[in-house]
Amino acid sequence: MDFSGKVAIVTGGSQGIGLAFTSALLDHGMKVCICDIKSEPSEDYIKKLSEEKKSNLMFQKCDVTSFSDFNDAFEKVVAHFGRIDVVVNNAGIFIESDWKKMIEVNFIGVIHGIKLAFQFMNANNGGHGGIVINTGSNTSFEPLELGPVYSGCKHGVLGLTRSYGTDYHFAKTGVKVMAVCPGPVDTNLLHTYADFSIDRERAKEQLKEIKPIKPDAVAQALIEILQKGENGSLMRVDDQGMRFV
Ligand SMILES: NC(=O)c1ccc[n+]([C@@H]2O[C@H](COP(=O)([O-])OP(=O)(O)OC[C@H]3O[C@@H](n4cnc5c(N)ncnc54)[C@H](O)[C@@H]3O)[C@@H](O)[C@H]2O)c1
Repeated sequence: MDFSGKVAIVTGGSQGIGLAFTSALLDHGMKVCICDIKSEPSEDYIKKLSEEKKSNLMFQKCDVTSFSDFNDAFEKVVAHFGRIDVVVNNAGIFIESDWKKMIEVNFIGVIHGIKLAFQFMNANNGGHGGIVINTGSNTSFEPLELGPVYSGCKHGVLGLTRSYGTDYHFAKTGVKVMAVCPGPVDTNLLHTYADFSIDRERAKEQLKEIKPIKPDAVAQALIEILQKGENGSLMRVDDQGMRFV
């Protein structure tokens, strides 16, 4: 994919993996709209951007669980940047006690993003086609005993990616659907994992065994899948490196 001048939406882009995605896309000459329920990235982050990158970045406050909120964000991106080429459905939470909310953000939010991407990027209906990247997880493939609903949502994200990422949908829309599936990553979500799992003490023990990677490593995987991925591709990235599966 030729990145230069293309436009991406990154949900949950104000911090963590989403912010690393945003930086990598800006580095490759793309324009990016961060859609996040929280405030913009830190002032410190914005301050360090070049003038060109600042003008290539916009922020839209948006709750991905609200279709109308999310739709509004897509409209504002088209109004501001003129097109949309990539949608990264990355926003996610880990709170097992609030499992209905988790399903809304981690699963329904992704469905909203895919449906809006198909609508706004549809090559048969005024769009240019494009790519949707969903953020899955190692728990898309493996069980997470202390986060069953989280893992269920991430298995669901895999099902959505594989089902929407088929020739049938591509023929209708010109949009590819793929997923990046990281293992544990050094972000706020992981730092609060024990507190929001179903067994804090057991989770703390398990955390001693894992080797989290940095968000930048996940962002490299994003660039790789955008460049080389086929429709329906899944890429895992963890302390063993990145690979298509
Ligand atoms: N950190 C890990 O170990 C890890 C591993 C695999 C997958 N993931 C996935 O990566 C994604 C990003 O997580 P992270 O680790 O960067 O976490 P994070 O908590 O650092 O960032 C999540 C971002 O999503 C935003 N968000 C939350 N709810 C939202 C909503 N309703 N609408 C819009 N934005 C919302 C938050 O404000 C935040 O900016 C998630 O989908 C997560 O499940 C994380």
